[in-house]
Amino acid sequence: MSDLSTNVENIAKVERPRAVRESISEMTEIVLPNDANPLNALLGGRLMHWIDLAGAMAAHRHSRAYVVTASIDHLDFLVPVRVGDFVVLRSSVNRVFRTSMEVGVKVWVENYRSEQSQHVSSAYLTFVAVDAAGNHLPVAQVVPETEDEKRRYEGAGRRRDIRRAESALRKKKAT
Ligand SMILES: CC(C)(COP(=O)(O)OP(=O)(O)OC[C@H]1O[C@@H](n2cnc3c(N)ncnc32)[C@H](O)[C@@H]1OP(=O)(O)O)[C@@H](O)C(=O)NCCC(=O)NCCS
Repeated sequence: MSDLSTNVENIAKVERPRAVRESISEMTEIVLPNDANPLNALLGGRLMHWIDLAGAMAAHRHSRAYVVTASIDHLDFLVPVRVGDFVVLRSSVNRVFRTSMEVGVKVWVENYRSEQSQHVSSAYLTFVAVDAAGNHLPVAQVVPETEDEKRRYEGAGRRRDIRRAESALRKKKAT
């Protein structure tokens, strides 16, 4: 497929706004010894990797394009996750700007023996849609429908302002 046909395809795809629900993704992992530290607790880096993948799935589903991760906001790990636990990651697009979109990922740990489920972490990631040559692509708008989706949509606007202000401050400090 030529770059031109890729671009034409992608431009056609951005025209229709899509509901948040069309981007909802879920990914489940079982924690194996190779994912854990010597105390049998899940490595933070492994969870960050899964968060990135779960976020990218929602971004791909919404944009129907390749995406790159531009940033991941602050992450807290609220409870330890042990070998043998299930890690469930749910993601969806919160808001689209122009070529970028904020995706929220919420992580749960499930222990099938105790039938307990606990919130482990929440993350906001920004993905930029790109074509095969790496050019940025405009992304279709996302339509929030539920109260939670509308709240996240509003929050994403505030978080983008904060990100931009912090980035400008970092650039100023670096000069
Ligand atoms: C992220 C990247 C695409 C930004 O490109 P750029 O040319 O520096 O940035 P631009 O100023 O043109 O911004 C493009 C969009 O990205 C957004 N953006 C750029 N940096 C950002 C950041 N740190 N956090 C959130 N959004 C960011 C901009 O707001 C803009 O969004 P909009 O079009 O919706 O308004 C580019 O830096 C890149 O390719 N980085 C490497 C990505 C990668 O490889 N990730 C995998 C992990 S290594």
